[in-house]
Amino acid sequence: MTIDVVLLPRELRPEHLAQKTVVVFDVLRATTTMTAALAAGVKEIRIFGSLDTALAAGRSFQGPHLLCGERNAVKPPGFDLGNSPDVFNRELHRNTTLLMTTTNGTVAILASKGAEAIFVGALVNAHAVAEVLGKGGRDLTLLCAGTEGYVSSEDVLGAGAVIDGLESRIPIQLKSDTAWMARSLFRAERMRLKDALSESRGGHNIRRAGLTPDIAFCANLNSIDVVGVVQGEPPVVRLFDGES
Ligand code: MLT
Repeated sequence: MTIDVVLLPRELRPEHLAQKTVVVFDVLRATTTMTAALAAGVKEIRIFGSLDTALAAGRSFQGPHLLCGERNAVKPPGFDLGNSPDVFNRELHRNTTLLMTTTNGTVAILASKGAEAIFVGALVNAHAVAEVLGKGGRDLTLLCAGTEGYVSSEDVLGAGAVIDGLESRIPIQLKSDTAWMARSLFRAERMRLKDALSESRGGHNIRRAGLTPDIAFCANLNSIDVVGVVQGEPPVVRLFDGES
């Protein structure tokens, strides 16, 4: 299995998607939040590219649903939830549909269209993602969402954690320096992930917005044993059951 790491959606090339499995990383916070929501029993997460399309979907949606997401790290007007991963619980959110739009993470999911399979990865579920990918066997592109068009080390750490997990399971071949850098960064920082995330570009945004507690949640390596899979057009994230 070959592994490539792409540091920003705008650097994606057709060969990064064709016959590839893509894993999208937005560790602070979108893919962590999606993973936590699915672990709490949320039915599905519908992905939107703009506030207006999400709000319009909310107006016509039949059934239990919540608008969630952020702009400038805070909850947009008219939304039910922001983008904090620790708000979900089974009692309140089981079988609910989330309508989600964020600045970077949902953009990266939309940019992954055309891949053979798309999964949602983070530090919280790195072990679970490596487990799924190890069984799949297809060549990989680990896509980092970045922050407002800039490379973000928190996403690279997420990709590095999955590479580290895969390497302990199956033979892998790192296809690029970015893949090598991701693995090296994770191995160098694995004992101080919370500090590393705080110092990252995304971490600065989260701290500036007064949401520092989210960083500890997002840095909690392998704390959630579920994986989201992206299906259909427009994309919907659901719990991966090993089959679909
Ligand atoms: C995003 O998707 O843009 C990030 O998750 C931003 C955030 O959570 O504030």
